[in-house]
Amino acid sequence: MKPLSVKSVDMVYELPKGGSVHALADITFDLAAGRMLTLLGPSGCGKTTLLNIIAGFLGPTDGEVFLGGDRITGPSRERGMVFQQGALFEWLSVSKNISFGPRMARQKKAQYEPEVERLLDIVGLSGFGDKQIYELSGGMQQRVALARCLANDPEMMLMDEPLGALDALTREKMQSLILNLWNDTGKSIVMVTHSVEEALLLGDQVFVMAPRPGRIERVYELPFAHRALSEDPREIKQGADFQEVKEEILSFIWEMEEEIMGRETA
Ligand SMILES: Nc1ncnc2c1ncn2[C@@H]1O[C@H](COP(=O)(O)OP(=O)(O)OP(=O)(O)O)[C@@H](O)[C@H]1O
Ligand SMILES: [Mg+2]
Repeated sequence: MKPLSVKSVDMVYELPKGGSVHALADITFDLAAGRMLTLLGPSGCGKTTLLNIIAGFLGPTDGEVFLGGDRITGPSRERGMVFQQGALFEWLSVSKNISFGPRMARQKKAQYEPEVERLLDIVGLSGFGDKQIYELSGGMQQRVALARCLANDPEMMLMDEPLGALDALTREKMQSLILNLWNDTGKSIVMVTHSVEEALLLGDQVFVMAPRPGRIERVYELPFAHRALSEDPREIKQGADFQEVKEEILSFIWEMEEEIMGRETA
């Protein structure tokens, strides 16, 4: 597994009608292999932009990103992306969605078929391979998205609010699934979420970002993700230590949002 290194990344979007948006300013950090990083911050602070740069979908205006020493210059199977929703191929079955990457890489059926079955089992969808995407609930669709990402055996999984569209109960189950996948595969994960609680439970490292320009304002190293592998996540969330960090981050984000609102209405 390879470490990620983000060096002095700047991103400025030039607007078609003139003017520009400074989406990220001097983002620098290293992420050791096998860690789970969650990104939190007010809307517009550059979370998706940062993820897209790591994915290689976007080139930064300045700075560089390396995975295991190789400079990222474009998308690669090494770095798999899971989106919020709607990114599955609606016209393909569940199995065909999951085997999409391997088929594009010209793997033989005999090779990818057992792998698809294994992945279906891992994400709790055994027996659903022949279903069409529209036959699945939102939670099941996100399980397919995770399996499709894993089918490429990426070094790193990038997730942009993967659970954002799910109801509370499904979301809790999916949080546990992601924790177990992380633990079982040893892959690095970078995940954007709007839920402070989710970020604290899943991130063994958490970045709180601030906007205009987007930057990393606070960094937390947290024990909860590791604990949640063997303890009840609900009890962890109710613990005083968890609540304390949660309140601290919530009020910090509140302050930032108030400041943004103030600036916009002034
Ligand atoms: N393609 C683009 N062209 C111009 N500006 C953009 C583009 N994409 C994003 N931006 C701007 O860059 C800033 C960061 O956007 P980004 O989507 O990365 O934020 P975010 O933290 O993911 O927000 P959200 O929480 O709402 O998803 C915002 O001000 C946004 O308007
Ligand atoms: Mg976003």
